[in-house]
Amino acid sequence: MLAKAILLEKNQTAFSCNIQNIAEDELLQQTGDTLLQIQYSSLNYKDALAITNTGPVVRQWPMIPGIDGVGTIIHSSSKQYQSGDSVILNGWGCGETHWGCLSQYAYLKSDWLIPLPTGISTQQAMIIGTAGYTAALCVQRIIEHGITPEQGNILITGATGGVGSVAIMLLTQLGYTITAATSKINNTDYLQQLGVQHFIDSKTLAYAGKPLQKEQWAAAIDVLGSHSLANICAQTQYGGIVTACGLAQGMDFPATVAPFILRGITLAGIDSVMAALPKRIAAWDFLAKHLNTDQLQHIGQIISLNECPKIAQDIINGQTKGRFIVDVNR
Ligand SMILES: NC(=O)c1ccc[n+]([C@@H]2O[C@H](COP(=O)([O-])OP(=O)(O)OC[C@H]3O[C@@H](n4cnc5c(N)ncnc54)[C@H](OP(=O)(O)O)[C@@H]3O)[C@@H](O)[C@H]2O)c1
Repeated sequence: MLAKAILLEKNQTAFSCNIQNIAEDELLQQTGDTLLQIQYSSLNYKDALAITNTGPVVRQWPMIPGIDGVGTIIHSSSKQYQSGDSVILNGWGCGETHWGCLSQYAYLKSDWLIPLPTGISTQQAMIIGTAGYTAALCVQRIIEHGITPEQGNILITGATGGVGSVAIMLLTQLGYTITAATSKINNTDYLQQLGVQHFIDSKTLAYAGKPLQKEQWAAAIDVLGSHSLANICAQTQYGGIVTACGLAQGMDFPATVAPFILRGITLAGIDSVMAALPKRIAAWDFLAKHLNTDQLQHIGQIISLNECPKIAQDIINGQTKGRFIVDVNR
C-alpha cells in the first residue's frame, strides 16, 4: 500500500511542501494501533500555518500535516473498533508531532478517535472539522455560563472563517442574536445567508483602546487575540463571558484587569487539541443535535491535496470564507 500525502520537510536552510507517495512501513513507524483509510481531511488555520511554514506548528520533521480526518478503520489492535467503522480524528498533536490526515492513510491511536456521530455524513464531519468542534466548545461554554438569548448580542470575530461560521450557525439555531466582526465588511452576503443581521468592521477592534468601553456584548467568541481580544473584554457587559480560542491577529494580549475586577467578566480559554474524549463526544453530539446540516454545504468547498498549498496561503492572507474539505483521493 502506498499513501498519497502532503509531506513537509525542513532542514537548516530549506523548507519544502510536496505531494509524495508514502510506503506503509514508513507510516506504521508512527506511534499507533489503528490504520485508518482517510476519506476526507480539512484545511484548518493551523494546517495553513504548517503548510506555508508561517508559524511554529510542526515540531517533528518530516511531517504529514492535517489535524482533521474522517475515514474507515482498516485494522485496529484495540477492542474499541472493528474494521469498517467510520471514525473522526481531531487534533491530539496530529500534523504537529504525529503524522496527520492530509494523506490517504493515517496510523493513529484508537484513544484519539471518536465514532462518526449518527446524522452526520463523512463530508459534513469535515465541513465541521476542528474549527466547528471548537465553535461548539465555545458555544457550550457560553451556555454553561448562563447566557440566554434575552441577555443581548453575542459578538463573533473572524466571522467568515471556520470557527466563526459554525458558531454563527449554532447560535442562530439556538435563538441568539449575533454581531459579526469581519474584515469583509463590504461583502456581507455570505454572513447574511447564515442569518447574521448586525456587523462591525474588525478594524474597529484591532488597535489599542480604553480599558473600559461601552458595554455591548452579553458574550463573545474571539479567534483573533491581541488588541481585538482586549477591546472585546472592555466592551463586554457586566457578568458576561468571552471565549478565547484563536490568534489570527496575534498571540499577545495587551489588556488591563479592569473588565475582570470592575465588571466581573470571565475570560474562558478554549482548547480543542487535548480536550478529553467525553468533552469531544459531548461537543459532537451538540453539533449533531443543533446544527442545520443542510446549511453546511453553504460553508464548505471540496478541494484536492494539490490545491492545499495555494488555499493555505489564501487562509493566512485572510482571503477565504468558510471551510475547505480535502478529498485526499481526488
Ligand atoms: N483553541 C483551539 O483549539 C482552536 C481550534 C480551532 C481554531 N483555532 C484558532 O482560531 C483561529 C481561527 O480559526 P479558523 O479555523 O476559524 O480560521 P479561518 O477559517 O482561517 O478563519 C479565520 C478568520 O479570521 C479573520 N482573519 C484572518 N486573518 C486575520 C487577521 N490577520 N486579522 C484579522 N482577522 C483575520 C478572517 O475572517 P473575517 O475576514 O470575517 O474577519 C478569517 O476568515 C486561528 O487562530 C486558529 O488557530 C483554535
